[in-house]
Amino acid sequence: MGNRSERTGWLKGPGFECEIEPPPEGTVPWRLVLLGPPGVGKGTQAALLNQRLGACHLSTGDIFRAAKSIPEAERSPAMKEAIEYMEKGLLVPDRIVLDLIRERVHCLKCPWGFLLDGFPRTVPQAEAFDQILQEIQVPLDGVLNYELEIEKIVARLSGRRVCPQCKAVYHIETLPPKKEGICDQCGAQLILRDDDRPEAVRTRMQTYQEQTAPLIEYYEKKGLLLHINAEGTPEEILNRTIQLLEKRRSQ
Ligand code: AP5
Repeated sequence: MGNRSERTGWLKGPGFECEIEPPPEGTVPWRLVLLGPPGVGKGTQAALLNQRLGACHLSTGDIFRAAKSIPEAERSPAMKEAIEYMEKGLLVPDRIVLDLIRERVHCLKCPWGFLLDGFPRTVPQAEAFDQILQEIQVPLDGVLNYELEIEKIVARLSGRRVCPQCKAVYHIETLPPKKEGICDQCGAQLILRDDDRPEAVRTRMQTYQEQTAPLIEYYEKKGLLLHINAEGTPEEILNRTIQLLEKRRSQ
């Protein structure tokens, strides 16, 4: 499928379009939600799934992090508020998140499909998302729920480094860049995310349990949930995911 990770329309919002070629005729798009605790590897899997399935990696966290690179005076009041919540490890209020999603509905209609990473994250967000999909008559094909023990997740988060420019994700031990501290893809200096500080990580884990974990039951009841063991290398987890998706489509 090749690397098709152009996300201008998603990251910059209304008025911006990504320059993507339409998929080959007969392509049946995948429209998936990636669920799982902070640091379990959703972003890593979304990038690999993008290469394999062609569907776009749409991360709500990346929208907020992209907003941080805009000079402070040019940020909208909603974006300023969102960044404050994010840096503390708290969820951004539903009204702000849903406005961002509604502004980007064109990405949900993309003929390549989508891989939503970080949205929905609360039951009200999931209910509003159902309504949006109904309005645009786009079906959801599945919800990938990545599962891993908490100690292993904390180890993944503490070694994470990210590229502020192209959003590539590394790990100092399991996925180091070729040159220490430098992004392989665009050459920018890698950084530690503000919300990967220990106190923010604790808040994020608690917030996940209280507000996001209920989505497991929500999507299980709808028959959309796929349980995926997130142990092993990224490629092993990807292959597990693809097998489950193929099985689902053949049923
Ligand atoms: P968001 O960006 O969505 O963060 P998150 O859910 O906390 O998830 P992470 O990005 O931390 O982890 P990940 O699961 O993607 O793991 P990764 O692949 O990087 O959200 C950030 C914030 O934005 C939220 O806290 C909130 O404030 C706000 N926000 C966003 N969406 C929102 C919404 N809908 N509503 C309200 N607020 C919202 O992997 C982690 C590390 O592990 C990396 O270093 C990676 O290289 C490594 N790794 C990955 N896989 C493996 C493997 N198999 N083996 C070894 N290492 C691995």
